[in-house]
Amino acid sequence: MLETKLKKENMRSDIIFERLWNDYTALNPDVSAIYDAFVAAGETVINDHIAFRTLNHPRICIEKLSRVFLDAGYVEKGNYHFEAKKLVAKHYEKQDDPTAPRVFISHLLLEEFSDELQMNFNQLIDQIPKGFEDEKELIFSKDIFGTASFSIYEKLRKESEYAAWVYAFGFRANHFTVSVNHLKKFSTLGHVNDFLKSKGFRLNQSGGEIKGNPEELLEQSSTLAGLYNLQFTDGKHSIPGCYYEFALRYPDEEGNLYNGFIAKSADKIFESTDFYSK
Ligand code: NI
Repeated sequence: MLETKLKKENMRSDIIFERLWNDYTALNPDVSAIYDAFVAAGETVINDHIAFRTLNHPRICIEKLSRVFLDAGYVEKGNYHFEAKKLVAKHYEKQDDPTAPRVFISHLLLEEFSDELQMNFNQLIDQIPKGFEDEKELIFSKDIFGTASFSIYEKLRKESEYAAWVYAFGFRANHFTVSVNHLKKFSTLGHVNDFLKSKGFRLNQSGGEIKGNPEELLEQSSTLAGLYNLQFTDGKHSIPGCYYEFALRYPDEEGNLYNGFIAKSADKIFESTDFYSK
């Protein structure tokens, strides 16, 4: 009885982020190393946003993944369309807490891909237990599609690196993002990038190291996703996992810090998990 009652209660956002962070750092040792390097430099790391990837299927679309955050006090703020990548996204902010990380969720527009890709995903989604899409655990479910087949992964990747990533890694944080505004010793994103490179980390160069500019009110950079040795049905294969992002926001003409995202920049940031096209 108590268990059922607890399940129905809303999960606090700090608890949600802690669980996501623990999974994310366990999967990506580079992230912990970077986080520790900032702490060793005397910084307190605050998250600008956390991003998730999914598909526009009614059972697992943005609206399903965002539920747990809406229940925790988040509200929908921005809508984005990434034409080249064939995906749309929404961002959410916590109503009563401007220091809480923004939540960014994108989903792939399945109908813009081949019948085979759609059929593969429809079959996989049919295997998700009925009702699970409305559980709070959805956002933490990781390999929701079961152990991936490397041949399906490879086929998906030919059409969309994003689709292949979702298939292999499922629902978990795709990236956390350090708020450069909250760092005391790094006034520019260039300083942050130099610091990371001096520690031996590789940055995503697609579209230049820094995406966006002060006029757009948002600058972002990211590491290249670390390789992860994932267990597939036919053995282990090394594939790009998650990346760590860094964001510096600027105030608008009224002096309010810009809270949105720039579609053009995010388009390039998405490529942080795409080693194959380089
Ligand atoms: Ni991001």
